[in-house]
Amino acid sequence: LTQGPLAGRHVLVTSGPTHEPIDPVRYIANRSSGAQGTALAIALRDLGANVTFVTGPASVPPPAGVTVVRVETAQQMLVAVQAALPADVAVFAAAVADWRVANAAGQKMKKDGSGQAPALSFAENPDILATVSRMAVGRPALVVGFAAETEQVEAHATAKRARKGCDWIVANDVSPATGIMGGSENAVTLITAEGAEHWPRMGKDAVARQLAARISATLGAADSP
Ligand code: C5P
Repeated sequence: LTQGPLAGRHVLVTSGPTHEPIDPVRYIANRSSGAQGTALAIALRDLGANVTFVTGPASVPPPAGVTVVRVETAQQMLVAVQAALPADVAVFAAAVADWRVANAAGQKMKKDGSGQAPALSFAENPDILATVSRMAVGRPALVVGFAAETEQVEAHATAKRARKGCDWIVANDVSPATGIMGGSENAVTLITAEGAEHWPRMGKDAVARQLAARISATLGAADSP
């Protein structure tokens, strides 16, 4: 039997990049490693939560002791997230591609000898965080999004929180001078309804543990299972 302050709670975490196919062998991706999402899933699991971990093709392995759902594309991630609901908490740490290739080819694209390069066109992907945040029925009690910013972190993240309709935004400054992207440390600003909190710089595992503790405290204050 699981014990801990989040025992009996279902927490959904998205993590990693998405891959958007160009043809059956090529895709568009991003550099997300899945490190922060994985650390969060571990920290939530360690507080006793029943964690569903919906992950794109990440470079770090998914944690043990959670339900892992592997997806490739943003559209598949949305379907997997909807299938995993209901949840008490949903944390969206995935780096979802904003666009997919609208004219992806069913067969491997070939050079035709004309010297002409193919033209890709794009379609906007669903915003999974915004979709779940705005659910009229069955919305998780706490919905947490992430924001990677390179300037005016607090202002941009506060605007993002309102735009997406989520409860919290965990924002970080990913400008190259910080060394945060691809590094092992993070300095986050937590945006809630009450305003902005600037957390000191610490390891990504420590950020995950503090966020998990904060989630647990917030749920515990709302009601007990
Ligand atoms: O708008 P932006 O991509 O900066 O928002 C980041 C937040 O939104 C992250 O929590 C990310 O997981 C989520 N997101 C999403 N679906 C998208 C785009 C972003 O869930 N299509």
